[in-house]
Amino acid sequence: MNDAQITPQDRVDATNRWCLDRMTTLNQDILQRRSRPENFPAELQDAVLRHLPAPAALPPRSAQQLLVLLGLAGAGVARHYQEANLSHRLQPDRAFAGLTAGTGPAAVAFGQYFTELADRTGTGHGPRDSFASLVRWNAPAVEVEWDGQILARLPTVFEDGLVRTYTGAVDEQRFFGLLKASEALERAINTELMPLSDGSLGLDDEPALFRIARAVVLLDTLRELNHDFADRPPDDGLQITHFMDVFRQYAVHWTAGDIPPSGALDPEALIRDLIVGIDLPDYPAHLHRIFPGLLQAERSTLTELLGRSSLPQAALARAGLRPDEVVTRPAPELKQLIVRHPSLAALYLLLNAHARAAGVHLLLSKRFLFDPQRDRERAGMGDPGVVSNRTGTTGLTETRLELLTRVRQHHSLSCLRVLPARTLEQLARPPAIRAGLTLTKGVLVRFTGSPLAAHDLGLPGSPPARPHSHPAAPRPGVARPA
Ligand code: HEM
Repeated sequence: MNDAQITPQDRVDATNRWCLDRMTTLNQDILQRRSRPENFPAELQDAVLRHLPAPAALPPRSAQQLLVLLGLAGAGVARHYQEANLSHRLQPDRAFAGLTAGTGPAAVAFGQYFTELADRTGTGHGPRDSFASLVRWNAPAVEVEWDGQILARLPTVFEDGLVRTYTGAVDEQRFFGLLKASEALERAINTELMPLSDGSLGLDDEPALFRIARAVVLLDTLRELNHDFADRPPDDGLQITHFMDVFRQYAVHWTAGDIPPSGALDPEALIRDLIVGIDLPDYPAHLHRIFPGLLQAERSTLTELLGRSSLPQAALARAGLRPDEVVTRPAPELKQLIVRHPSLAALYLLLNAHARAAGVHLLLSKRFLFDPQRDRERAGMGDPGVVSNRTGTTGLTETRLELLTRVRQHHSLSCLRVLPARTLEQLARPPAIRAGLTLTKGVLVRFTGSPLAAHDLGLPGSPPARPHSHPAAPRPGVARPA
């Protein structure tokens, strides 16, 4: 095939193959010091960037594909540059100096190309990799089924059903799978709750109570999914050293102060916090700080929700109470209140399920990051990586995650705890609703169109019989001294 016959999509497909194959090997070789860090940008330039078409020549979906790929590659460029000399962390953007996309007079700097490509997707994507590009667009499509009925679907932008990773490690694949499956479940939860939040359903009406009850079941499924992941033996889940020393170290800054990808940018989790309410005065400021890491539609939804009452606030307002008043009511009065306004009981159960899910997430963050990092500090190993293992990538500390969990546990309807669980349950879920919760097939989360085993996409299920290769973690002390 001569150059004139090669289409822009052919270039994207070739880049995909390069990322799946050569880039993962190159990343491993550099981490194992079998190859030099500067080989990464050199090969990227020669094998990929110089062949790329102008972003304007790409349909939006192809632009999304290429953005995923260049996001992964850009992270490699930035990481290897910073690890080569720790002083490079001060001016991370210099990693991209000299990298250009396209050839001849049409060639543009990598950063400019990435920004034009992001614009071409039409999604309001920012100038670096993101949760959307790395997780949602990358991993295979996932569906959430409720007794055979599809409640939510998160598509992919690729046809191959694969997960693109930094090093080809199945750990990374499973982690991306877990994040995407969780996001899909969360989307199903938010889809249940949104008509209540926007006022299209009356909170105390049966359809609303059913939706809240269904959201509780979905939240429990989310918690179980994450708990199952936490309980896996290291070889079958995510190796702690791989998470800390390999995976997280790709979440470096591309420019000083930018927002690297993180689970903390999972938009459905943020949306749920606002729908169910989160009593933290600085939460809106936190959201605005991380807005550059989100897509335009996500920023718009969050902005709209910031201007709305949360569901508990709306339910209390219907009951004619201010949030501080409900705390002071004696139990018999609270009971009368929920008889008149059963949504309060239903929301109480919802907020508890939300807090339980947050508790399991906190456990994951401690198991895979904060606890082992504490052990390292005690052993005098410090925190030598280019991405600190003392905090999350967007800067959330363990204390902050604990605070978020505590706030979700001591929620605005916690005072209903004084009432018998059975009473709350019966009022929140009258018989017709309970009947609707009796499932034959249950809640199913599954990836579609993928050759990969569910287990290797972070879902419960038996590990595949075939042993899979696991690229070795880098030697201890990944970061090289300046
Ligand atoms: C092994 C699994 C996981 C680990 C080790 C982990 C770890 C962390 C860490 C360290 C942070 C702080 C991040 C930062 O500062 O940017 C964080 C935050 C967050 N993660 Fe995860 N995470 C895991 C799984 C998930 C999953 C499956 C989701 C859902 C899609 C998720 C959603 C979030 C959210 C929403 C936050 C913001 C804090 C909060 O709202 O509580 N994480 N996680």
